[in-house]
Amino acid sequence: MEQRTIPGLLPLLLLLLLPPAGRATVCEGEGRWPVPYRRFDRRPRPDPFCQARYTFCPSGSALPEMRETDVLAVYRLQAPVWEFKYGGLLGHLKIMHDAVGFRSSLTGKNYTMEWYELFQLGNCTFPHLRPENPAPFWCNQGAACFYEGIDDAHWKENGTLVQVTTISGAVFNQMAKWVDYDNKTGIYYETWMVKSSPEKNSRVWFEAYECSKFVLRTYQKLAELGAVFKKMQTNYTTITLFSGEPACLGNETTLFGPLGNKSLALAIRNFYLPFKPYHSVKEFFLNLLKILEEVVLDHRFYLFYNLEYWFLPMKYPYMKIAYEEIPLPNSNATKFDV
Ligand SMILES: *[C@@H]1O[C@H](CO)[C@@H](O)[C@H](O)[C@H]1NC(C)=O
Ligand SMILES: *[C@@H]1O[C@H](CO)[C@@H](O)[C@H](O)[C@H]1NC(C)=O
Ligand SMILES: *[C@@H]1O[C@H](CO)[C@@H](O)[C@H](O)[C@H]1NC(C)=O
Ligand SMILES: *[C@@H]1O[C@H](CO)[C@@H](O)[C@H](O)[C@H]1NC(C)=O
Ligand SMILES: *[C@@H]1O[C@H](CO)[C@@H](O)[C@H](O)[C@H]1NC(C)=O
Ligand SMILES: *[C@@H]1O[C@H](CO)[C@@H](O)[C@H](O)[C@H]1NC(C)=O
Ligand SMILES: *[C@@H]1O[C@H](CO)[C@@H](O)[C@H](O)[C@H]1NC(C)=O
Ligand SMILES: *[C@@H]1O[C@H](CO)[C@@H](O)[C@H](O)[C@H]1NC(C)=O
Repeated sequence: MEQRTIPGLLPLLLLLLLPPAGRATVCEGEGRWPVPYRRFDRRPRPDPFCQARYTFCPSGSALPEMRETDVLAVYRLQAPVWEFKYGGLLGHLKIMHDAVGFRSSLTGKNYTMEWYELFQLGNCTFPHLRPENPAPFWCNQGAACFYEGIDDAHWKENGTLVQVTTISGAVFNQMAKWVDYDNKTGIYYETWMVKSSPEKNSRVWFEAYECSKFVLRTYQKLAELGAVFKKMQTNYTTITLFSGEPACLGNETTLFGPLGNKSLALAIRNFYLPFKPYHSVKEFFLNLLKILEEVVLDHRFYLFYNLEYWFLPMKYPYMKIAYEEIPLPNSNATKFDV
């Protein structure tokens, strides 16, 4: 900043000739905690290298327009991602997937709405290291999916299917506009939440952006539109990393381009070497344990967030997977209670 105020060409040339570390790296939203999740103008087509093993949202559609006078029940839907038994530590973890259900009383039709990875969790959390490309390559888009039907058995048996509020068709239609906006501008999946410590009032450096955050944003939107939520405890899975103040390292161009610091670029690539993104959900969690070992030994983690790399000086207890309460929103009306 200071240098830009110096007039003349020579200082400018000197600035261009400085080694990369001499220039301040700038990341989107730097200096604000938590770093704001970046929204884009539109969603790019995923690179053809990214191929889904399971088609994203096979029976999806746009949200239908409801009759304004319709009355819809809204359901909280939650089911385990990872149902098989795995001994020890991970066996007791509640790794849940979240969605929202709607049922129209006019037509009797019901619908499921969720937000998830286009190329599965592994691809959103770990990059591909391609020989022809020095930069790690990410297939990390996520998107909203809306389809007719609610598979009661799937949600009920080991999870939750419970009504949380009732809305009008008019509110549903307004929500639909917001879903469209949200889906076009919030594009990249972020697996990790990063905090300074496990204490309740600790600093949040980064917020995750995954299925449950979409459900929480939807509830919030409905509350703003006037929905009144029932009183009940609602818990969600969070995967949290613990670190000291993160340092912005730069983006793909500044780090892996011709002016990048080669040893830093290599350190980032090597960090991701042990983790393969192709894996099943089971292998994903085995990968998590591997990351934990590396992080404990070296106290370092290279986070990719908003398409930029950040260095995390990791701190004990390094990582936590929790199933904790995030309350349903207060409706505007109940603000005036008490
Ligand atoms: C390049 O990055 C390494 C590792 O982060 C750092 O130690 C070194 O000082 C950097 N070199 C330059 C020229 O910025
Ligand atoms: C992850 O991405 C790779 C590369 O496109 C792809 O081959 C693989 O099928 C993806 N994994 C899943 C589970 O979709
Ligand atoms: C969200 O965007 C994805 C990717 O463009 C698309 O496949 C999906 O149908 C959209 N979801 C909704 C609910 O419009
Ligand atoms: C959704 O509709 C299906 C098919 O009619 C029905 O079996 C199921 O019980 C409904 N679920 C809810 C929560 O309305
Ligand atoms: C519920 O959990 C049991 C035991 O882990 C499993 O056998 C069953 O397939 C699960 N049911 C559903 C619908 O996921
Ligand atoms: C509820 O409150 C939000 C934020 O304070 C406001 O934007 C919204 O218009 C309110 N909605 C209603 C229905 O009063
Ligand atoms: C990377 O950062 C540089 C400098 O902040 C910026 O000029 C460039 O547009 C960014 N590149 C991408 C791909 O975002
Ligand atoms: C839900 O979260 C609360 C507070 O975060 C916790 O005390 C409770 O044990 C959790 N419930 C379950 C079933 O884990």
